[in-house]
Amino acid sequence: MTNANLARDLEQILIQIQKASLPIYETLKQSLGEYTQNTNATGDTQLKADVAADEILQTTFKDLKIIKQICSEEQEHAIPLHKEGIYSIAYDPLDGSSLMGANLSVGSIFGIYQGDFLPHNLVASAYVVYGMVIGIGFASLLQEGVDYFVHNGKEFQLQKTLKLSHKGKLNATGGTQKNWSKFHKSKIESLFNAGYRLRYSGGMVPDLHHILVKGGGIFSYPSTSDAPQGKLRMLFEVFPFAFIFERAGGNAVCIQENPTQGEIEAKRLLELIPKHLHDTTPCFFGSQEEIKFVSES
Ligand code: AHG
Ligand code: MN
Ligand code: MN
Repeated sequence: MTNANLARDLEQILIQIQKASLPIYETLKQSLGEYTQNTNATGDTQLKADVAADEILQTTFKDLKIIKQICSEEQEHAIPLHKEGIYSIAYDPLDGSSLMGANLSVGSIFGIYQGDFLPHNLVASAYVVYGMVIGIGFASLLQEGVDYFVHNGKEFQLQKTLKLSHKGKLNATGGTQKNWSKFHKSKIESLFNAGYRLRYSGGMVPDLHHILVKGGGIFSYPSTSDAPQGKLRMLFEVFPFAFIFERAGGNAVCIQENPTQGEIEAKRLLELIPKHLHDTTPCFFGSQEEIKFVSES
């Protein structure tokens, strides 16, 4: 496929994401963070807004013939759309939805693949932040940096192309701290001792967007004693942001520890192969310097 054809297709997909973000934002404004009685494939109790956002996205993607299949955090299996389509889209319709009751920002996350859901097939990724305004970050193989669009009440306007400096100041880390490993605890403490500031809302979209906007720092969701494979899902959360951070000039790795030998292994996230659609992985996203620091024993 030529770059011109890829650019045309990605433009069409971005337009569908922009279109869907408007009714999703309206749903959020009318919602009080109510839960349903149902659980999703990961076992999370779904909010009404999770289900509504998923339905809006399914309908919006169905309109585009170039999409072969979609797969959502809220659905157990992938959904085939158009036989002649060439793109597969994996998405988290509403990320951080449990924060809605607290009136904090939430988001949507998209990984766009040419072919099947394998990280080396990623050609673009996007996120939507539903905050004071609707913001959309979009990265693709066709350009360096992350284009950040803001809805001005009428249309989406490109506000800035986000790039990461070699090193930043923010440190965002998740999971229950009493279940962190000694290694993770010591790395996080060293970052704070070196002057990093804690910024963690509990929604990965605003937390990672914050780092991108400030131009550097690190976000981590490590392996913990209660969740050795972490919490965040490869297809719906981790791969799209790994792609976005790499395109912004940073790095994204999985860190696993070998407790018997006291060694750690850091692997590029975009080289992991999921066995199942809902597999999770420990994950670290950041500027070059911070990722190098946490990747060393
Ligand atoms: P989701 O709402 O799609 O289930 O995802 C929530 C995720 C992510 O946004 C956030 O970084 C993480 O859960 C927070 O988890 P902890 O509260 O365990 O730190
Ligand atoms: Mn999520
Ligand atoms: Mn979600």
